[in-house]
This record gives sequence, C-alpha cells and structure tokens, in this order.
Amino acid sequence: MRTRTRTRTRTRTRTPRIAGAAVLAALLTVSLTACGQEARGGSRYKPDGGKGGTVGLAMPTKSSERWIADGENMAEQFRKAGYDTDLQYGDDKVENQIAQIENMITKGRRLLVVAAIDGSALTEVLQRAEDAGIPVISYDRLIMGTEHVDYYASFDNARVGELQGRYIVDRLKLGAPAKNAGRSYNVELFAGSPDDNNTKYFWNGALTVLKPYLDSGQLVVRSGQTRLNQVTTLRWDGGTAQKRMDDLISKNYAEGRVDAVLSPYDGISIGIISALKSAGYGTKGRPLPVVTGQDAELASVKSIIRGEQTQTVFKDTRKLAAQAVRMGDAVLNGRTPEVNNTEDYDNGKKTVPSYLLDPVSIDKANTGLLVDEGYFTAGQLK
Ligand code: GAL
Repeated sequence: MRTRTRTRTRTRTRTPRIAGAAVLAALLTVSLTACGQEARGGSRYKPDGGKGGTVGLAMPTKSSERWIADGENMAEQFRKAGYDTDLQYGDDKVENQIAQIENMITKGRRLLVVAAIDGSALTEVLQRAEDAGIPVISYDRLIMGTEHVDYYASFDNARVGELQGRYIVDRLKLGAPAKNAGRSYNVELFAGSPDDNNTKYFWNGALTVLKPYLDSGQLVVRSGQTRLNQVTTLRWDGGTAQKRMDDLISKNYAEGRVDAVLSPYDGISIGIISALKSAGYGTKGRPLPVVTGQDAELASVKSIIRGEQTQTVFKDTRKLAAQAVRMGDAVLNGRTPEVNNTEDYDNGKKTVPSYLLDPVSIDKANTGLLVDEGYFTAGQLK
C-alpha cells in the first residue's frame, strides 16, 4: 500500500560534523538574533544548523494501518531530506510512548515528531526535551498542556467532523432543518478517544451540522446519548465501539431501525457494522444504516465498495508526513516553517502554530480518487 515500506534506521557517525555545526550554530544564532526573529519565538532554542543527525518519530500504534503509513512515509521523507530516523510505536500504551521519547532524548535525537497516545501525558518528558534543546513537532494530534511544542502538522479537524455530519444530512435527504418536516430518522452518535485532542474537533464539527436537525426532531437519538462524555471510545478501539453498538441496538431498537451512525474513524465503523450485522442489518429488507468514518483505511474502502460502510474521510498521510518533514527541516536549519493557522490550536499553555491540510469525503461514488492519487492501487480495491 502507498509508498515503499522500508523502516531501515541508520546511525551515522557525526563526529566530523560537530565543530562545523557548532560554528554554524553560533553564526546562525547571532544572525537570527540580529534580525530579531529567533526560530522558536524565544531564546531557548539555538538551531545547530545543517542536515544530518537523527530525528525521533514517536507514533501511537501499529494496530491501525494509517499510523504504520505515517511512520514509514515520514522515515522515508526525512531520509531523503538528509536525516536518519528512529521510528518507534507505543502500542497504544502511554507509558511505552513516554519511555520511547525519554530514550530518544537520551540518545540525542535532534528533533522529536510525536503523535501522542494521550495528548496530556507528555508534559514532563517534553520538559526534558526542552532542557536538552530538542525541538518538538506535534503530529496529527495536538500535544496538550505544555509550552514545549513548537509546531503542529495536521488536517483541518473541525472540517473532518463537518464532512461526516454533512454526509448524514445529505444521504438521508434531510433538506433544510424545519419543525414538522415529516419523517424523522434515528441516529446514534460515536466519538473518538477522550484523551485525543482531535476528538472534540471532530465532534464539534459534526454536531455543528447535525444539531439543527436534532433540535427540529428530524434526527432522533433514541438512546438519549448526545453528550460527548457519553459517546467517546477509549483509544479509538473498534471492539469497544462494537460492544456499545450491541448495547444501543438491544436497548433501543427492539422496534424500528437505526438509520444513521456518526462514526469518527474507520476502525470504529468496522466495529459498529459488525454489531449491526449481528442484529440482522445488511440483509434483504433490512439495509445497513448510513455509517461514516475517517482515514480511508483499506478495509473500510473495500467495505464502502461492498456497500457496507457508507463514507470515510480521506486524509493523505503522505502529504501530512511531507508537511512534518518540511517543518522539521526548517526548524533544524534555523528557518521559520510555513504555517496556515495561528488561532485554532490552543493547547492550554500556548496557541501552537499549525499547518492544516484539507480532508476529502469519500463514498462509493469517488473511491477512484484514491487510485488516481496513488494512495491505493486498483488491484488493492478489488
Ligand atoms: C486521530 C486521527 C484520526 C484517526 C484516529 C484513530 O487522532 O486524527 O485520523 O486516525 O486518531 O487513529
């Protein structure tokens, strides 16, 4: 799938570079200070300049193919830009990720790119990175509660939620929200992991679109579970979502049917669809509801083609990786990375300068886009 799958990590002898790098660092520091534009908006980071050295990439889990692709794409693109990489996966365990980042700091990695498992659990370890003068890029998920995050590369996360909510409205042909608009539809709502900052952006984006229809009664949540803290799914786990969906069906849908399910992520959608199928949906006369998703993972794109999952949101991990590499290379060379959002991503300590990419809604009608873009081959989608 996607690009090459090498994860080779090389260690390069850096000794001959050190003297040159130190001189360059001194020169850069002087010239940047003279221009009044220090690289990290303060005096704490002194770019040591130049290419080379090793970049630490801390990814959350291999249980989802997207993170495997993110890590591999970044490793490959950092190598092309002249760096070695140390790519680690935390197996969705917070303590593993902290230990991996600590190890990267101890080994003198020049830059950390982190997709957090728990966005609020890295304050202490990132203080150590700061003390060691190592810049940090938050990858896809914003790291919370620390000043020691320099830049954020992600997608427009609110837009992801809007695309999911809009898909449900359009697919059920709800039209403009109106009281007494005739037929109402049953929807159930799922959200992502409560410790992932993206979760509330996806949720708020979707609810902005759905709320007028919930208020007008055109959409009904029979379970009554409409608050974010009632619908989250720890660690985005498909099995957890499946159990919740089993429960929702048995308690609320002995009669009538579920017409739509807001799902924030493909792994969750797969769990939801399994529960629905066990309850007899997807058979003749009892079609599956509209089920949204996110990430355009292969299993879900195939499910969409089979007519099971209805929609997903494509976020090209190659482009996100390229963005993180551009940012990292700029920071390491004393340049200010390009950003396109300096307002929306406040982590509680600072508003982190961000570069947000555009997500794209995918359903059965446009899965071909994924082939045109080279994300999958036509053969993979058969
Ligand atoms: C989110 C990410 C989504 C999805 C989810 C589960 O942080 O933005 O695209 O991958 O994690 O892995």
